[in-house]
Amino acid sequence: MSFRTKLLLVVLLTIFASVSVVAYAVTYYTRSSFEAMDAQRTEALVAQFKKEFVQSGAELSHQVKNISDAGVTDRMAIDLSHANADASLYARDAFGAAQEHGLNYVEMVNSDGILISSVQNPSRVGQRVDWVTSVKNWNDTDAFLKKEELPDGVALSLTVVRTNDTVADKSLYIIGGQRVDQNFLASLVLPAGMRALIYTNLDQGFVSRSLLGEKIDSDQAERFAPLVEQLQKQPQPLVRTIEWSNDPVDAETFHAIPLTGRNNELLGIFFVGSARRELVQLTREILKSAGAVAAAALLVGLIVSFWISARITRPVEKLAEGAREVAIGRWDTRIEVRGSDEVGQLAIAFNDMTRTLASQKERLLQTERVAAWRELARRLAHELRHPLFPMQITIENLQKARRLDAKQFLEVFNESTATLKAELANLNTIVSRFSDFSKMPAPKFVRVNVNEVLRNAVRLFEPQFNAVGKPTITQEPFLTEPLPEIDADPDLLHRAFQNLVLNAMDAMPAGGMLTLRTAEHDGNVRIEVADTGKGLTPEECSRLFTPYYTTKQMGTGLGLAIIQSVVSDHHGSISVTSEEGRGTTFRIDLPQRQAGPRVKPREPAPESKKDTPSTLAAASD
Ligand SMILES: Nc1ncnc2c1ncn2[C@@H]1O[C@H](COP(=O)(O)OP(=O)(O)OP(=O)(O)O)[C@@H](O)[C@H]1O
Ligand SMILES: [Mg+2]
Repeated sequence: MSFRTKLLLVVLLTIFASVSVVAYAVTYYTRSSFEAMDAQRTEALVAQFKKEFVQSGAELSHQVKNISDAGVTDRMAIDLSHANADASLYARDAFGAAQEHGLNYVEMVNSDGILISSVQNPSRVGQRVDWVTSVKNWNDTDAFLKKEELPDGVALSLTVVRTNDTVADKSLYIIGGQRVDQNFLASLVLPAGMRALIYTNLDQGFVSRSLLGEKIDSDQAERFAPLVEQLQKQPQPLVRTIEWSNDPVDAETFHAIPLTGRNNELLGIFFVGSARRELVQLTREILKSAGAVAAAALLVGLIVSFWISARITRPVEKLAEGAREVAIGRWDTRIEVRGSDEVGQLAIAFNDMTRTLASQKERLLQTERVAAWRELARRLAHELRHPLFPMQITIENLQKARRLDAKQFLEVFNESTATLKAELANLNTIVSRFSDFSKMPAPKFVRVNVNEVLRNAVRLFEPQFNAVGKPTITQEPFLTEPLPEIDADPDLLHRAFQNLVLNAMDAMPAGGMLTLRTAEHDGNVRIEVADTGKGLTPEECSRLFTPYYTTKQMGTGLGLAIIQSVVSDHHGSISVTSEEGRGTTFRIDLPQRQAGPRVKPREPAPESKKDTPSTLAAASD
């Protein structure tokens, strides 16, 4: 992934993450405050409902007390206290009292608990109403909720009982009630988005028409069934959200408050509903704004990161290009410096580095060249001294021989000329060796199977590996098959491999193991020739490839120089690893393809015509 893409991703992710966090936090706090506000409003509404309840109860108590305190009621109590009193005379009194005091329900019960008069259910007159007589101090009792039996069903009422005690021990009970229904809710002041409902729990299970309130149809009412059923099981306040449609905007949260009678039986449920619309819309607005902010921020981030990446990556790309140029050998590469920031500093440092590298390389080259010439000169002097010294002696002898007689002089002369000729021939050999090396032929590339060339080169030495009376050299080939063919000159490769094997043999005078390896490596073909011979010191390793460097009595020191020249002409590389006393490994990497023309592959030369180790040794001598 490029730096530009990474930077872009980081910026985008950061923006996205921060906008998400802010949006989440705002939504969270908005929701919390909304819920707190909602709870407050609900609480206020419930308090208002309770107050209303208490007020209605107080009003009702007052009215019922008025009925019980009225003179007509006193007379009724006195009349009814007589043993032979005719209760039916008072059967309509409750109607008058109800009308006069504006009450929905009024009933009158004598001291024996017999119903004398009833507004809500006249047919029950004459029946016993035991629950009234079971309480002694009705006058101190507040209003309570009661299930009212009507001829056509049941109703919920707020009820107060008061007694007329004009006749001692013969109390007349006055039961007054006000219907609790939708009208009761009308008095509540509802804040916007809130509504109040009442469920009268007078039947078994859930009955949808018992849910009273504004704008509630039977379909909607049905949704309250689980709530009501739960409260019927356990009359405790609870909160539920009802989703009216798939859109969360239509959800409504209901707080249910159970309304119980004198014996704690559930008689009704007060519901306070609060619409979620405002919250959901607000949340959507916040998310929409967050989305817009995020989009804008992302756009700005995109532009900024493009700008930053252009400011950083372009110079970095230039630096990378410069480094690549240096890698392919253009040491004088320079980068245009702009600005004095870190990237500018980097460019300056790069330019300094290439300048230093170029001058160091030049110095190194010069040092190497001088060292090579010194080695060459030393070797040349050494080689030339051998024939020159006898020649000088011979000439001096010849000069001295002038004083001898003619016969003796002729003898010395013949001897001297023979010596001079021999030494001149020696000189000639030395010169031709130099000229041979300088005239290494240019490679003629054909498609070559390296394994085959290596096998052929080693095969020539096999008789010597197992020669009788000589320590044995075992051969261990690890040749990868199939190995890709490469563009190479088989003759030159053959010669190079032979020199490597010869060196390995020389390094193992007491026998050992010769390991041959070929493999494909990084798109190149790698050849390794390893021996278990005497090895090399690091100092020796560094001098190996210098022409005429040898440690052998009869060596020319040209073997490795020739190998290096062949490898270099094939655009490959050669390296050596060695451990003194344990062995040496030469490693050659050759590219599979060579630029330029390839010649037609030749028929492989018959084995007998190839160089034998002795002829090769002679050739390189
Ligand atoms: N496998 C090896 N193990 C130890 N030393 C080696 C090995 N190969 C080369 N050398 C050292 O490197 C020197 C140079 O080797 P190079 O092949 O160039 O010349 P040479 O072998 O001495 O002479 P020539 O190749 O003409 O016989 C050798 O004299 C030897 O000291
Ligand atoms: Mg050699």
